[in-house]
Amino acid sequence: MIIIGAGGHAHAVIALWRALGVEPLGLLADDGPAEVMGLRRLGTPARAGEWRAQGVARACIAIGDNAARARLGAALAAQGFALPAAVHPSAVVMDGARIGDGCVVMPRAVLGAQAMLGPFCILNTAAVLEHEGSAGEAAHIAIGAMLAGGVRVGARALIGAGAAVLPGVAIGDDAVVGAGTVVLRDVAAGARVAGVPARELGGRSGQADVHGVRSDHAAVSVDGRQSQLE
Ligand SMILES: CC(C)(COP(=O)(O)OP(=O)(O)OC[C@H]1O[C@@H](n2cnc3c(N)ncnc32)[C@H](O)[C@@H]1OP(=O)(O)O)[C@@H](O)C(=O)NCCC(=O)NCCS
Repeated sequence: MIIIGAGGHAHAVIALWRALGVEPLGLLADDGPAEVMGLRRLGTPARAGEWRAQGVARACIAIGDNAARARLGAALAAQGFALPAAVHPSAVVMDGARIGDGCVVMPRAVLGAQAMLGPFCILNTAAVLEHEGSAGEAAHIAIGAMLAGGVRVGARALIGAGAAVLPGVAIGDDAVVGAGTVVLRDVAAGARVAGVPARELGGRSGQADVHGVRSDHAAVSVDGRQSQLE
């Protein structure tokens, strides 16, 4: 198992794998510290194929930026890496729930009955995606967010810390919901909303500086290097 990323989210992911009894071999990141939680940085993500050739079979993309996580996940899958999901032992996964490859489900998160996480999602600490809810590829439901039954979250969308989303609401692809926001109605793709009740902010998501985990973006820059991975 090799971890891709060396920023804030990587710390949580390393701790998650250790809670599951898996000690990762090391990290691949473009920059950042030489060591994170005792794991050495072994090179850049562009060199992942060399580690695959040496027999490293599994990888986990531990990058907070949703679009980057989706791109790198696809690239590593194409190189033959297995990208298993990780579910913390304290998380609750109810009957009929499904979890895609590369997802991380953090401590005390709840995935309700028949809810679905697409590949590379983050269901973060103490977040709830209730019954029949769904999250598209590489969505991030941040710490303590409460998504009621039947909420649909689009691909690469970010639901900020402590947000609340009413039953059946749809959040579009690449949308950003600010921390603590209460979402009463559907949110359009790419929109950024915040406040109680949710109101649209100016600008498009981009998400590069909205996660509050800025070190992730310094740790792994994939643009321009992606071709080496694909
Ligand atoms: C919503 C968000 C993306 C906006 O980021 P931004 O584009 O940098 O916005 P700014 O900080 O420039 O704020 C723009 C305006 O929105 C307001 N605002 C920002 N975030 C807000 C929030 N969560 N709730 C209410 N209002 C908010 C600001 O007060 C400001 O209002 P003003 O123009 O009247 O002064 C960001 O504040 C946020 O909440 N990110 C989520 C972080 C998070 O939960 N990460 C997950 C960690 S696990």
